[in-house]
Amino acid sequence: MKFTILTLFPDMVMSGLNDSIIKRGMDNGLLEVGAVNIRDFSADKHKRVDDYTYGGGAGMLMQAEPVYQALSSVTSESQKKPRVVYVTPQGRPFCQKMAEEFAKEEQLVLLCGHYEGIDERVLEECVTDYVSIGDYVLTGGELASMVIVDAVARLVPGVLHNETSAETESFHGELLEYPQYSRPEEWHGKRVPEVLLSGNSKKIREWRLTEAEKRTKERRPDLYEKYQLLQLAKKRLSVRKIHHMDMIEAINRGRATLIYMDETECLLMENQSGTYFHTTYEATEQETYRPHFLDKLGPESLDKIILLMEHNEGCVSEIEKELGLHMEYQNHTCALTRREKLPIRGLYAEDGKEGPTGISIEPLTLSDLDYALGLYKLQFDDPEYMKHRIENDPMYLARFHGAPAGIMGMHVDGSIGMLEVDPAFRRKHIGFALETYLYNKMIENGEIPYGYIFHTNQISINMQEKLGMYVAKEYSFWLHK
Ligand code: ADE
Repeated sequence: MKFTILTLFPDMVMSGLNDSIIKRGMDNGLLEVGAVNIRDFSADKHKRVDDYTYGGGAGMLMQAEPVYQALSSVTSESQKKPRVVYVTPQGRPFCQKMAEEFAKEEQLVLLCGHYEGIDERVLEECVTDYVSIGDYVLTGGELASMVIVDAVARLVPGVLHNETSAETESFHGELLEYPQYSRPEEWHGKRVPEVLLSGNSKKIREWRLTEAEKRTKERRPDLYEKYQLLQLAKKRLSVRKIHHMDMIEAINRGRATLIYMDETECLLMENQSGTYFHTTYEATEQETYRPHFLDKLGPESLDKIILLMEHNEGCVSEIEKELGLHMEYQNHTCALTRREKLPIRGLYAEDGKEGPTGISIEPLTLSDLDYALGLYKLQFDDPEYMKHRIENDPMYLARFHGAPAGIMGMHVDGSIGMLEVDPAFRRKHIGFALETYLYNKMIENGEIPYGYIFHTNQISINMQEKLGMYVAKEYSFWLHK
């Protein structure tokens, strides 16, 4: 990902960012950070870029033309128009969700103001986002830009070597992070909580959740309130647990934003994919049912819905009509709700190593991209999607006596899928091995594996049931713009 910072103080931002993890990301070719000196674009012989404010008032303002020229020098060399972020105390408050949104971009341009700010006309013409890093005023935008680059850069796949640590930490699903301890076991008379020494991963997970809740309630009551609303949604969704497992798991995994909720229905957004999920908790009797959110949300919020998973058939036609979406597929949700890992049954040896069956499982990497695409293209031909999946979530490759034999992984919305067994290796339990391995990894992580089965695919329904999955009897409906 490329960051370009437009500033009067390029050395300040470059020296601040050219160290530690960001530097390693640059050295590895994952990040590119550059600064452009706005002063280089001044037509003035003294290289001035500021002037008095019309209408009077204290201080000087940065003029439109040098800023415009500096921005044009950056945007004209980009194939796709990049987002241009003006950092200002008058912007939208910067937060983790915004960092996640920015991290999806190929390039981000950050514009730093100085003096009293920048002539409004060039902002109107060029800026796509106004962002503040907090309710206080700095002497210029440089520190704010550095904060944004740092928070976004660490989310770029590969920048943090420990991939999972970008997810399990502060601001994960409205909860602050739990307390953590390192050696020694006792320091200044304080012992590490016993449970953390127990090796019991279920107990440790429970303890961490309780501590995270306590800490959030105490330190950030505003976040805690949002967390409680999501917990209430989860409780209401549990009346049809399997059917709603996609929504429940989005909440459990800290990936849900509550968009609308009342006593009968709920609309969530899954943060990573931007997919919306809607349901009425209980099935409704009416043939058509107008969801309340259509009348409660403003046009700006409704316009953002381009992919929606509807859990009540009665709502489909109203949503299609009102939001201009159309139904593409219907499917059943299936979920593996057991808390103990599945038996391996000799499918492979410990840790996915090759067992007597000849099957082994390992993480799928970018070097297997062509193989994975060759298999998956039968269903879905999008190289970028597969690359994104490999970079962002666990995907697995099965081998049969060393030869690649199948793949499986997780969709961007968190459902499991993309199971493909190489036609050359059918009937060798490759599919069962991949599923068992992936489900066990998820169970170890405290997650409930769930997926969608195309409604006519009886073979797949039978296979999932054999593995202990419950299949919802109801249909869910994918609605696309
Ligand atoms: N420039 C000056 N103060 C700022 C702030 N709080 N956030 C972003 N940019 C700024």
